[in-house]
Amino acid sequence: MATATKPAAKSTTKATASKSTATKTTAAKATAAKTATTSKTTSSRGIVKAKATAAEGLQELFVDSLKDIYWAEKALVKALPKMAKNATTQGLIDGINNHTTETEEQIARLEQVFALIGKKAVAKKCEAMDGLLKEGQDIMESTEPGPVRDAGIIAASQKIEHYEIATYGTLCAFAKTLGYNEAADILHITLEEEKQADITLTEAAYNTINFDAAEADENEVA
Ligand SMILES: [Fe+2]
Ligand SMILES: [Fe+2]
Repeated sequence: MATATKPAAKSTTKATASKSTATKTTAAKATAAKTATTSKTTSSRGIVKAKATAAEGLQELFVDSLKDIYWAEKALVKALPKMAKNATTQGLIDGINNHTTETEEQIARLEQVFALIGKKAVAKKCEAMDGLLKEGQDIMESTEPGPVRDAGIIAASQKIEHYEIATYGTLCAFAKTLGYNEAADILHITLEEEKQADITLTEAAYNTINFDAAEADENEVA
């Protein structure tokens, strides 16, 4: 640390300068010890610890992110059938059902990636996906079945797909940087699938929702 080795230029005697340097060295050691303690405390809260090398840190972050998306996909595969059940537009129902099958395959792909890097497939709660699924649930509970609920389901799906696209894009980059080329290729397949699901569940499904029919129904009731 610069402070520890900085000479005491303003001291008037050698003895004072020596004392000053010693004091500063002691202070620097205390600061270093404090930093080490802080680092240990932080890591015990579940935050990724600082590693001796950047590569080791990235490796840990990569594995942690894999556990996170593994949990997210498993939660999603349970939630998607419920979303399909709540949807009315056939194109949306088909899109969700198709993506449920894809999601099952994506879970299997993640297990392949864990095996490739020599790690056990472990799921770690993904707070982001948990929140996105809760939001989707709220939309379904606060709307009547029909075009508006369908639009709400699409909105929730779009947020989920964009989260997954961002996650898999990052995982691909991490895998390549760490030299896990086969894992990167597998993750890339899922990334492309998520991009396609976003298009199918949003643009295609949204365009088939019949808002006019809903308006006509409302007029008839009125
Ligand atoms: Fe997925
Ligand atoms: Fe997805």
